[in-house]
Amino acid sequence: MTSMVIQLKRDIISVLDMKDDFKKILDKALKTKTEPPKGRRPEPLKRKVLAMVFEKPSLRTRISFEVGMTQLGGTAICISPDEVQIGKRETVADVAKVLSRYVDGIMYRAFCNETMREFAENATVPVINGLDDMEHPCQCAGDLLTILEKKKKLKGLQLTYVGDGNNVCNSLLLGCAITGMNMRAATPKSHAPDDGLLAKAQEIAKEKGCTIETMSNPFEAAEGADVLYTDTWVSMGQEAEKEERENLFLPFQVNAKLVEKANKNWLFMHCLPAHRGHEVSEEIIDGPRSVVFDQAENRLHAQKAILATVL
Ligand code: CP
Ligand code: NVA
Repeated sequence: MTSMVIQLKRDIISVLDMKDDFKKILDKALKTKTEPPKGRRPEPLKRKVLAMVFEKPSLRTRISFEVGMTQLGGTAICISPDEVQIGKRETVADVAKVLSRYVDGIMYRAFCNETMREFAENATVPVINGLDDMEHPCQCAGDLLTILEKKKKLKGLQLTYVGDGNNVCNSLLLGCAITGMNMRAATPKSHAPDDGLLAKAQEIAKEKGCTIETMSNPFEAAEGADVLYTDTWVSMGQEAEKEERENLFLPFQVNAKLVEKANKNWLFMHCLPAHRGHEVSEEIIDGPRSVVFDQAENRLHAQKAILATVL
């Protein structure tokens, strides 16, 4: 009698979906980063196809997923916002069900976390969140991989996030808690991280023996930081609030004055795209402590580890 192997579909919508395997994913990424050159690489995703559905623009996510699939022996198909018009030309559920009949996995960049979850519930193949308004889990994996490479550890380090308590900040709260890093997020009170995800991160931090704090004074938050992290003040979809946001966030710029508070070997991080003279001064992002392009590269390696795990 032949035994049937039942494979459970596994979605990565939140950093929480990688919780138990986060360290394993980072170790795998470090290993694949240094593996032999093309031609001698293992190809665990041979003949597998990933669909990439975008409701918003992208450089890093689009290219790193496509290159990642190619390097793993598979292929990726990119579907731009105008092509499918999710929720307009066709319902979210129907798009998820149809795509699932063609491909082995779907990377989805959505405006809204509710749409992301509806999509994942209706897809019968794994769905990976390539950013929504709540989280950016693949960015977080690439970021923690970068810190691990540079600092040779994660546990016990202090990451300070300054600016908007957005999707990138929410995922970092979870990622830091899971890996035992201390995190402080300094944001205006009106733009604090998501309450539910913060509470979850604090609960995990308790188990892991680290601290996750939010505050509104960037100088207090930057005190003793090993990593200083910021992101745009105007996320995709918030363009109408640009002027109001730029005024509100002015005191939250990462600049020469703020980094004086950090630890001796501090690193500067940003998920990109960046706006010099707004959330970060030019001298910091283009200075010797900036690792923003390592972060961009590490999206590729972290995502290859994620793809090889879930597809
Ligand atoms: N950091 C990031 O996700 O970049 P893209 O928006 O260019 O994909
Ligand atoms: N917070 C930003 C991240 C871009 C990668 C946005 O959502 O636009």
